[in-house]
Amino acid sequence: MSPEHRIIIDTDPGQDDALAILLALASPEIELLGITAVAGNVPLPLTARNARVVCELAGSPDVPVFAGCDRPMKRPLVTAEHVHGKTGLDGADLPDPAMPLQPVHAVDFLIRTLREQVAGSVTLVPIGPLTNIATALQRAPDIAPRAARIVMMGGAYFEVGNITPAAEFNIHVDPEAAEIVFSSGIPITVVPLDATHQAITTRSRVDAFRALGTATGRAVAGWLDFFERFDVEKYGAEGGPLHDPCTIAWLLRPGLFAGREINVEIETEGRFTAGMTVADWWGVTDRAPNALFLRDVDADGFFSLLTERLARLR
Ligand code: RIB
Ligand code: CA
Repeated sequence: MSPEHRIIIDTDPGQDDALAILLALASPEIELLGITAVAGNVPLPLTARNARVVCELAGSPDVPVFAGCDRPMKRPLVTAEHVHGKTGLDGADLPDPAMPLQPVHAVDFLIRTLREQVAGSVTLVPIGPLTNIATALQRAPDIAPRAARIVMMGGAYFEVGNITPAAEFNIHVDPEAAEIVFSSGIPITVVPLDATHQAITTRSRVDAFRALGTATGRAVAGWLDFFERFDVEKYGAEGGPLHDPCTIAWLLRPGLFAGREINVEIETEGRFTAGMTVADWWGVTDRAPNALFLRDVDADGFFSLLTERLARLR
């Protein structure tokens, strides 16, 4: 089967990022051209390490992993160890990676790949702050029309913020980068908190991962047992939202999701609202739609897809 989607995952692992990478690696519909690490949940040295840890867990040490930007375009780095732990992958004790980092900077890999691959054949899947993607677009504007689509986790509207009252973490870390991405003209699918807060872990869902009886199942269950405590304490939820794998699930089964083509602008100046995704869900402005903004998820369908695919890994 020739892959339906040829993608680059731009990521700040993060337990939920790890599940997105695993889902992509377990799915024959997807050709993972490379992984670009960015500073976000934890600093860049750790996100670049963690991406390789996940590839080796999946038995895919051949996936090229690139280190990218170690800080936002204009702001100091904000990290999220309070959610992901000091390592970014707390909850499972996995060995340091043997596979090397690629010697090329992630931004150069993004530019080179989009220039060399057939126009419209590569989808970018950013699931952390958008610094790498925006830096590539700023340095090489010619790549924008060559990208097939951006499928990103980030933003919020009805759910409002998870790191400030107004902003979701990925956008909050680098609002200027998000502004560049949302004004790039590239087709964008946004998987915001409005959708991911419906994809919540439960005891039975985590137990199903553990019951796989594999190294992957054990690591995933351990990560989620750790990761979910933040949302349980903050929201009184039953579990933690699996934000990032929803992007890969949308590529695989778009029918599991629903949303609207709307205009989304990024607040970059607000004293209290910087990083807010100003989503014109009700069409009250004449601003042109620039994103498919998802709001609804079939959570059971999502978890059965995720569990079935992770069962294919060792
Ligand atoms: O707000 C959730 C997002 O921020 C997810 O991508 C999570 O991994 C963190 O990066
Ligand atoms: Ca992430």
